Amino acid sequence: MKSDDVVISARDLRVWYGTAGLPVRAVDGVSFEIRSGEILGLVGESGCGKSTLGRGLLGLLPDGAARDGELFFRERDMLRLKRREQHALRGRELGLIFQEPLTRLNPLMRISEHFSETLKTHHRGIGKDEIESRSLEALRVMGIPPTRFRAYPHEFSGGMRQRLMIALTLVLRPAFVVADEPTTALDVLVEAQIIRMLHDLRDTYETSLLLITHNLGIIAEACDRVAVMYAGRIVEIGDAHTVFRAPQHPYTRELLRSTISLSTTGLNYIEGAPPDLSDPPPGCRFHPRCPDAMQVCERRAPVPRVQPSGSRTECWAADHANGLVTLTEDERIPLAKEVIALADEA
Ligand SMILES: Nc1ncnc2c1ncn2[C@@H]1O[C@H](COP(=O)(O)OP(=O)(O)OP(=O)(O)O)[C@@H](O)[C@H]1O
Ligand SMILES: [Mg+2]
Repeated sequence: MKSDDVVISARDLRVWYGTAGLPVRAVDGVSFEIRSGEILGLVGESGCGKSTLGRGLLGLLPDGAARDGELFFRERDMLRLKRREQHALRGRELGLIFQEPLTRLNPLMRISEHFSETLKTHHRGIGKDEIESRSLEALRVMGIPPTRFRAYPHEFSGGMRQRLMIALTLVLRPAFVVADEPTTALDVLVEAQIIRMLHDLRDTYETSLLLITHNLGIIAEACDRVAVMYAGRIVEIGDAHTVFRAPQHPYTRELLRSTISLSTTGLNYIEGAPPDLSDPPPGCRFHPRCPDAMQVCERRAPVPRVQPSGSRTECWAADHANGLVTLTEDERIPLAKEVIALADEA
């Protein structure tokens, strides 16, 4: 990290999809910051709201979706910007990398012309030399040899074309990029190369990155901090090493355990299914699946608290274990099924 400037700041941010019935509350009150040059990883089971959060930060939501809360990009109040102003920011200062269809590359245009057109759209009057030096830099970061600068799209493999698309985002030197599952686009690269590329990206452009991926290995190696999302909430956020070494939230622990055993035995997974985001359970949303759930978890939503480890979690069990709250005896009664069964027998 090169400086402490906050690039993105979200407070109680919500994003929902208004459907015919109840709205789907895909992001339901999240707060975090991303600093200049920082890589924040975002993990969580499918459907927990990662892409919605990433797109919500960039204002790239489909019709019918709405946001509220507070969202700042540097000093700009993103929820109050006009559509036109938002549009101008995207591309030039904000970027999205995702699984793009390859159709955006024009088969009749050389790669150099793609770069030149992209740069001219956002920087009127940019000179030839700068176009070339910026383009070659973006190609280098994406591991594409400079000798390919004047080639045509069809001369590239599918994987390389996808990296070209990413280079076309980076050439604008955006201050903040959301990379949503970019690893599939980068399949041909080994994990170590992807990690090197991400660091190179940050070191070259001082870009801040929200990295959404199911690959916890990449998160552990490439990210400064990690946020764990469950059912529309960030349940744990902190320094990546701390979160991986000493997870505070039972969901983080289960996620790590399931990932480790999935890669070794292919059998383990977190029992149960995530809730319906149009009607999540009361109290802590994870309580029906949580091995540590107590009576209080069923009744009251946990409050985000900074744990002694330094990570912020919302979990009554972690708060209690770390002496941050005092629970009544009644609130502490475990909800674990086997305990309830034993109590019934007695
Ligand atoms: N356009 C949409 N309209 C209505 N609901 C949507 C829309 N897009 C996503 N959702 C719902 O919002 C919730 C969050 O979805 P999202 O795609 O953000 O999850 P995700 O964490 O990115 O999942 P994955 O890991 O599978 O990519 C899900 O319940 C999903 O069904
Ligand atoms: Mg997604």
